[in-house]
Amino acid sequence: MTATAIAPPDLAPAPGPPPGAPRMLTGDRPTGRLHLGHYAGSLANRARLHRRYESFFIIADLHMLTTKNSPGEIAETGRHAADMVLDSLAAGLDPAHSVFYLQSAVPEVAELSLLLSSLVTVPRLQRIPSLKEMAQHAGQREMPLALLGYPVLQAADILAVHAAVVPVGNDNAAHVEVAREMARRFNRRYGEVFTVPALVRADVPVLPGTDGRAKMSKSLGNAIYLSDPPDEVAAKVRRMYTDPARTTAGVPGTVEGNPVFVYHDAFNDRPAEVADLKERYRAGKVGDAEVKEKLTAALNRFLDPIRERRAAFEADQGLVEELIVTGTARTRREVKRTLADVRAAMGLTAALAGFRRAARSRAR
Ligand code: TRP
Repeated sequence: MTATAIAPPDLAPAPGPPPGAPRMLTGDRPTGRLHLGHYAGSLANRARLHRRYESFFIIADLHMLTTKNSPGEIAETGRHAADMVLDSLAAGLDPAHSVFYLQSAVPEVAELSLLLSSLVTVPRLQRIPSLKEMAQHAGQREMPLALLGYPVLQAADILAVHAAVVPVGNDNAAHVEVAREMARRFNRRYGEVFTVPALVRADVPVLPGTDGRAKMSKSLGNAIYLSDPPDEVAAKVRRMYTDPARTTAGVPGTVEGNPVFVYHDAFNDRPAEVADLKERYRAGKVGDAEVKEKLTAALNRFLDPIRERRAAFEADQGLVEELIVTGTARTRREVKRTLADVRAAMGLTAALAGFRRAARSRAR
């Protein structure tokens, strides 16, 4: 991973998108609290983009069901969703300019997904690598039907709200491509109903975990959370993986790919300090303890304003829940309208209308 500084959150009040701005949709499955990897990979980008686009954020609990569907896992959805929204607000999303909605509470999306499913073939979906990976990761030897349909459901989410831009990571890029294909195919066959969405690839490197593994992730237990208190951050940094060849401070160390320095590059707002630490590390003139203490201090400087914002939103009891309730109602109205247009364009409303006319004339 190359040195890429991640902008600290700009938490000053700022205007929302101009009226009539194009729409953006993005979001996540409800897995719980968000960590630095989410910040680097998507939150920073979302905070910036939601000033330019009218923004919808999906809590994709139906997508979660494609791999996690035990009653216990489903029971956690509410808490996880609320944690995710709270962390998103803390990281800079403005509640006045963010529509959060719960996917399963917009059942029209499922009907749209079914109607769209005749616009794509099974082999097309079978070739998408992310689906095979998800199946494997979930311990499934055979592909569940719902998982094969994951991109179709995602296309329904995107097309249902006429999203013009969809910022996602690499693992989701192929899904947005499927949505684009389906939108074009539908429009050609039945008439112009859908906006063809543009993929906005989050052009950010993946943040490694504290254990040095390639990706920070909750399931790997190698994450630093936005909600971790300062002493927890210190403890996690102290346990962090560094250059294993460096048995004492006097041994010259490797900076490249060393997660401690990857984090310094990403989050430390004092580039001169980072340059000095790197130089001394390479020369064997600094202990891991100092590098880590300075990293802890930098991460806490980065996280402090996020913590403050989090505490303020948390103190406003019921706010997060209200945002989800109103956002879901708003989205459902939009999706119902789209679904009515889709059914009309496909000619699905004509038959019943004809039956009704005939039935009425008989009754007279
Ligand atoms: N697939 C996304 C994930 O990895 C979540 C998601 C569902 C999504 N529907 C979407 C993202 C629509 C962007 C647009 O969790």
